[in-house]
Amino acid sequence: MKDIVVSGARPTGNLHLGNYLGALKQFVAMQDSYNCYFFIADYHSLTTHPNPKDLHQGVKTVLVEYLACGVDPEKVTLYLQSDLVQIPELYLFLNMHAYVGELERVPTFKEKVRTQPDNVNAGLLTYPTLMAADILIHKATKVPVGKDQEQHLELARVYARRFNYLYGAEIFPEPVAFNMGNDLVKVPGLNGAGKMSKSDDESTSIFLKDSAKELHKKIMRAVTDTGPTMENQPKTEGVQNLFTLMSYVSDPEAIAYFETEYNAMRIRYGDMKKQLAEDMNTYLTPIREKIEELSHNDAYLKRVAEEGAAKARISAQNTIDEVRAIVGFKSF
Ligand code: ADP
Ligand code: TRP
Repeated sequence: MKDIVVSGARPTGNLHLGNYLGALKQFVAMQDSYNCYFFIADYHSLTTHPNPKDLHQGVKTVLVEYLACGVDPEKVTLYLQSDLVQIPELYLFLNMHAYVGELERVPTFKEKVRTQPDNVNAGLLTYPTLMAADILIHKATKVPVGKDQEQHLELARVYARRFNYLYGAEIFPEPVAFNMGNDLVKVPGLNGAGKMSKSDDESTSIFLKDSAKELHKKIMRAVTDTGPTMENQPKTEGVQNLFTLMSYVSDPEAIAYFETEYNAMRIRYGDMKKQLAEDMNTYLTPIREKIEELSHNDAYLKRVAEEGAAKARISAQNTIDEVRAIVGFKSF
């Protein structure tokens, strides 16, 4: 039996390089050797109250971009979260054994309380139980995600273990965050601090659909510093981030050249950025071209979503049938 894999991304905008390297590239790397379920987390996106008119467009964008990255619906089960009623049902069961205190301690929740105090809704608090339901509904053991999702995975294991223990049943395996290249990835943005994120200012994230011109403009404006003033000086975060981004897309010789220049205090950040923009463009061009091509093919997208939902429902319903029996629901 192949290991079961589940992962998804929220349809809250275009996918960026962090989504690609942290998740999508892993999806593609895993699709030949595992039993993969990849989905668009449209229920999760409701925590931010998207405009109903924009929601479908957002879902379409992410579906197109998954496919453009090489996710193959012939090899994996690709679906929308909201097409599986079994997910909110499992979410309800899990919520009964999820404690408010443990949910309030989740770092992403605490961060939202700080940054958006006017919208601390119950969906935000229970985001990790919905995510656990996404994973446990297919009894997955491996979850390809970026480093920022580690804590959510820890809670998914807690809920799996707790459910098994409380009902004396070995129904759920404990899922782990997974990356074929071993370490989980955290892709930095261009603003000199933290990870690349959709919630950042658009000008500091690199989107898969960005044109050569947009890439150039954003990268030339990336935060750096006034330059090293002694040999082998430790790098400031903005400069380190540029080197990290280069490590994903540039030749080792180009990286070594700019390292040497930096250590000898000769570096011209403008030259380094130009190189990075060029290499980033070469790296992203095939994906951008596919995005363009697929976004006009609504009939294909419809077929992919419908076939994926039909396949995913079978596995989800099997789990829900077991859960209902374990919990004690019986039909007359
Ligand atoms: P965002 O954080 O931009 O809103 P999502 O939360 O929808 O994106 O994340 C979808 C996937 O992309 C998750 O697996 C997440 O770990 C990964 N991801 C997001 N940002 C990064 C990043 N900067 N580096 C690595 N992985 C990331
Ligand atoms: N929480 C994830 C994120 O923000 C998206 C997500 C929702 C997910 N459900 C999931 C990822 C289940 C993996 C498995 O990035």
